[in-house]
Amino acid sequence: MNKKEIGSIISKIEQEGSIFAKKASLDSLSFPSKIIGRKDQAESLIRYLLDYKQGYVVPYVSVYGRSGSGKSVVIRFVCDNIDGISFSFVNLRQAKTVFGAANLILAELGVSNLKSAQGINLAVDVIGKEIESVLQKAKKKLFVLVLDELDVIFYDKRGKPSDFIYKLVVLGENLKKKGFLFCIIGISNNVLSEYELDDRVKSRIGSSEIFFGPYSKSDVLDILKDRAGEAFSKKIDANVLEYCAELSSAEHGDARRAIDLLRIAAEIASSGDLEKQHVDRASDELQKDRISQTLASASYHLRIVCGAIARITFLTGESWHSTSTLYNQYAKIVQNGTKPLSYRRVSDLLTDIENTGLVTSQTSSKGRHGYGSSYKLVVSPEMVGIAISKEWWKGIVKAKLEHDFAVSSKKTRIGSRSRPLNNLLATMEQNNELTWKKYVGLD
Ligand SMILES: Nc1ncnc2c1ncn2[C@@H]1O[C@H](COP(=O)(O)OP(=O)(O)OP(=O)(O)O)[C@@H](O)[C@H]1O
Ligand SMILES: [Mg+2]
Repeated sequence: MNKKEIGSIISKIEQEGSIFAKKASLDSLSFPSKIIGRKDQAESLIRYLLDYKQGYVVPYVSVYGRSGSGKSVVIRFVCDNIDGISFSFVNLRQAKTVFGAANLILAELGVSNLKSAQGINLAVDVIGKEIESVLQKAKKKLFVLVLDELDVIFYDKRGKPSDFIYKLVVLGENLKKKGFLFCIIGISNNVLSEYELDDRVKSRIGSSEIFFGPYSKSDVLDILKDRAGEAFSKKIDANVLEYCAELSSAEHGDARRAIDLLRIAAEIASSGDLEKQHVDRASDELQKDRISQTLASASYHLRIVCGAIARITFLTGESWHSTSTLYNQYAKIVQNGTKPLSYRRVSDLLTDIENTGLVTSQTSSKGRHGYGSSYKLVVSPEMVGIAISKEWWKGIVKAKLEHDFAVSSKKTRIGSRSRPLNNLLATMEQNNELTWKKYVGLD
């Protein structure tokens, strides 16, 4: 190949004509040009922050909700548009430790990193000094520190995440003594009080919370309509947009996924008209990606929990399964010689799986036993099973086929049977329904 040939490929692609006019509008990772809805959440935040005019702000606001519910974009948009405050928006996703988180805050404030040997106290001191100087220079009273994806610091148990939050809150108290105001906004998938915190932190942070529920179908549709208007070179069939919104909101109400779904469907449609079948194909592709991403970095036990949900869903044909059913299933497939995790740990893993978007949950009353969670796969069980282990999944499919066949032939009792059928039935005689259940771990 030479440069000329590359040139002719480029002009061929350019002549094809594209369904897109501005594909960037369907980039779910870049900041949107417009925020759709979420007025209640924006208003709550504005109320918390505007209190600074009265000389008071709450020390901590916990912003929480599922992935793709608009937390990051809405909080940033509000902070960007309130005059009179200074703020730093720090995404902690890259932080592997609590000290790493402190360094990310320092970097956002324009200060060079410290070495962990210098200690977390010094890091917090430097953060405080820098905030003071920012406020002095800007002649402002309030500094807002937004800590996005705060969940990650709670994985660093040795780094004492609760202590770190405590130190930041105390930093706010010290700033107050100097005539400034300081508010931390922590963004996470769960409300802050659900993480492991010392009592002294709990009593200081109060209970200022802003919840981002999953988007409804009509919310998602509004976001998609807005994006489609900018992104495409021609009008898109309203039914197709509605179909995208329906698929996304039925699963998880995640705007990021809905936008990705629309973009990939349009890539598949290429220069032709965007149709429902393209959305279906895009949805399959996204599911495969999500499953392989989750499983690629998953621990052995997380894979087994995923396998347990896939298997029970496939075998019973039922969608919802309680934590205790899933725990029993999990314990049955854990390899001989591997100690199963505790019920509590498996229940935590289910939450992790929910956060990756493979399952969704609902809480229901179990009468006098209190409340319990049930989980439902939002991707196909076959895809999950095959991604975990083809051989293992084949065994499950075979067992189910044999079982279903045995059940149906018991009912019909055909007189003459062909040889292969006889063979199969002979195995089924030994493998009656009961042993089959044992084989697949359903008893
Ligand atoms: N209200 C909205 N208006 C316009 N676009 C939105 C809105 N909510 C979400 N989006 C789009 O969806 C993407 C995901 O939203 P966002 O990053 O705010 O989710 P999140 O709640 O922070 O998720 P995570 O927990 O995964 O960080 C955004 O980049 C944006 O493109
Ligand atoms: Mg976010």
